[in-house]
Amino acid sequence: MFSLANKIALITGGGSGIGFAIATSMIEAGAKVVITGRRENALQEAVASLGENAYYVVNDVTALQHLEGLVAHIENNIGEIDILVNNAGINMKKPALEVTDEEFNRIIHTNLNAVFALTRTCASRMTARKRGVILMISSMAAYYGIDRVPAYSASKHGVEGLVKALAMDFSPHNVRINAIAPGFIETAMMQTAMSSDPARMNKALDRTPMGYFGKPEDIGLAAVFLASEGAKYITGASLPVDGGNSIGF
Ligand code: NAI
Repeated sequence: MFSLANKIALITGGGSGIGFAIATSMIEAGAKVVITGRRENALQEAVASLGENAYYVVNDVTALQHLEGLVAHIENNIGEIDILVNNAGINMKKPALEVTDEEFNRIIHTNLNAVFALTRTCASRMTARKRGVILMISSMAAYYGIDRVPAYSASKHGVEGLVKALAMDFSPHNVRINAIAPGFIETAMMQTAMSSDPARMNKALDRTPMGYFGKPEDIGLAAVFLASEGAKYITGASLPVDGGNSIGF
């Protein structure tokens, strides 16, 4: 029930961090994966280490006009996409009063507009086939207030809203959609947000009952579960994978 054998997964931003770990876990569970990103070198290296069941396509998710072509290219050359993982995302830490409209839009465009556009593109095929699984990568910033990340928080709340709304639209067609809300996971993104801000790092750790930060693999394992038949009655949900951070005092 937890196998992903014969499944094809599209993972955006799969060349590094959490996306790469999701690719690794999904391949271990038997899937073929297609990772996307903007830097061909990084994708080539990632595919070389993921092995023969990994493919890459250079794609910037913010170029919405290319998403239809991306999905058609994958389905024509590799196979039908069974699993979409909307992992690509960007963060920006800045006091709210200093955030410009342009900066706010840039985060929303990558983390929310592109997520909806790619989800719609994949889901139109999935709903027609009456099978498919979609995963969103949310954040603790969609669970509680965090200072200096207004655009990022708004985008991740948006993603959580989409999960609920789209579960309503897609459930009659046997397509499930869920979010994983990672806690504080050791990746380049977290490094950038925390390295110059020890107070924030200590605060995050203090309210994590398990007492340590997560590894990208922790998200990969949860993604395998939610994508598998083992989760066949789970849709419209958001699963915190956070060492208890979201319930910590
Ligand atoms: P990361 O910066 O290591 O990876 C993000 C990936 O997205 C990179 O491969 C990057 O190239 C790709 N990407 C960014 N913009 C893109 C675009 N326009 N087109 C295609 N690819 C693009 O960061 P990390 O930590 O692995 O983040 C992955 C996801 O997990 C993001 O959605 C992030 O918001 C989320 N997340 C991470 C947490 C953490 O503690 N690391 C906590 C909560 C959520």
